[in-house]
Amino acid sequence: MRSPTEEHFTEASRLLADVRDIVDERPDGASPPGWCERRGWTRFLAGLTDEAVLSAERDGLAAHLATLPETPDDLRALARAVTHWTALPMADAASTEAVDRRRASPRKRVQVAAFAGLVERLGGTAARVVDIGSGHGHLTRHLARALGVEAEGWERDPARVAVAAALAGDGGARFVTIDARDAAAALRRTDLVVGLHACGALGDDAVRAAGAAGASVAIIGCCLQKRDGDRAALAVPGGVSAASLTIGRAVLGLGNACDGEEGVEEALAVRAASRVNRMALRAALLAAGLSVEVGEEMRGVNRRRATGTLADLVDCACAARGVAAPSAAAVAAAGLSAAAAYEALRRWALPRAMLARLVEVWVALDRAAWLRGRGYATEVLVAFDAAVSPRNVAVLGWPGPT
Ligand SMILES: C[S@@+](CC[C@H](N)C(=O)[O-])C[C@H]1O[C@@H](n2cnc3c(N)ncnc32)[C@H](O)[C@@H]1O
Repeated sequence: MRSPTEEHFTEASRLLADVRDIVDERPDGASPPGWCERRGWTRFLAGLTDEAVLSAERDGLAAHLATLPETPDDLRALARAVTHWTALPMADAASTEAVDRRRASPRKRVQVAAFAGLVERLGGTAARVVDIGSGHGHLTRHLARALGVEAEGWERDPARVAVAAALAGDGGARFVTIDARDAAAALRRTDLVVGLHACGALGDDAVRAAGAAGASVAIIGCCLQKRDGDRAALAVPGGVSAASLTIGRAVLGLGNACDGEEGVEEALAVRAASRVNRMALRAALLAAGLSVEVGEEMRGVNRRRATGTLADLVDCACAARGVAAPSAAAVAAAGLSAAAAYEALRRWALPRAMLARLVEVWVALDRAAWLRGRGYATEVLVAFDAAVSPRNVAVLGWPGPT
């Protein structure tokens, strides 16, 4: 394995700062976003064939730019830079043989086995494992057994703690219902702090709490947008402004793009249908005289409804707002115009989707850089295949000698 260098972090930070206009402006209709016009990419993207769009949605735009005709030079250079600075070493595959099967999906077992493979390197001298956001405790129980140490799961959802405690029985690991932020001061220098899919701000909180205690740490984050406010950088390299590395909560979800998931073709089709439905819903609500910001159309409606019929979705949204549903003809017209707008929008979305991995990897590099600033040695690597879970970037930190 190879450690991320300061140069890696600096270059990835510069790249992110350079593309903030793209990250920040999500295409939302038939008109090209401002960055697309300013960068002169509109004609190229609008001219892509349906087949080229499908391939780029499936494999990522960067994978196809070399062969697409008339690709703008700066778009091709951006794709190369993103591919280069998001490439990370891959951890060795680990056997799932010893991972408890009870209530654990095959994918979760692969994640747990891979994670244990990583922390074996860190945990040799840890007196205790603290699993932050332990969920059902699969990782906690496995590490308690594998490392032969005391292990505690900190989880704020009491229902998950109850399941974890029942699975653990009398031995191996204990589980506490607690908000990890309230317990950070209880961490010790001899702890190993772990988090598998520590979502949203929890990943940052866990890294900072471990760093403050001087404990070893291994974190895989996910769902960066699940936090109260925007995400300010933990570390800012020279020559890059802190503001250009502060990412708004509303766009952090970009780091959760699901390329590499199994059944990606079906997943894309479902996502496309649901996006068209949401666009049509907003158009129908606007046509009915309501004022609805982009992204506000689903207020009060379960997100899964967007994958059903448009008529049902409009009925639910109108009921949630206490207004009468528009006529069937108005709903059908909104559906047709949304489908046409989506054909343009999916082309504008391609360069932005190419930046999803950059956002995710950069957050991991930022966490590692912060730890290095406290004297830690760090690794940032891919813990398991994206087909197991695309949220697979691990940050490992060892405190330096005190
Ligand atoms: C995506 S789940 C991962 C669960 C488990 N680590 C796994 O891999 O199966 C994230 C978990 O973190 C918990 N969580 C989020 N924020 C937390 C906090 N501040 N304190 C404690 N638990 C938290 C959630 O309730 C959830 O169970």
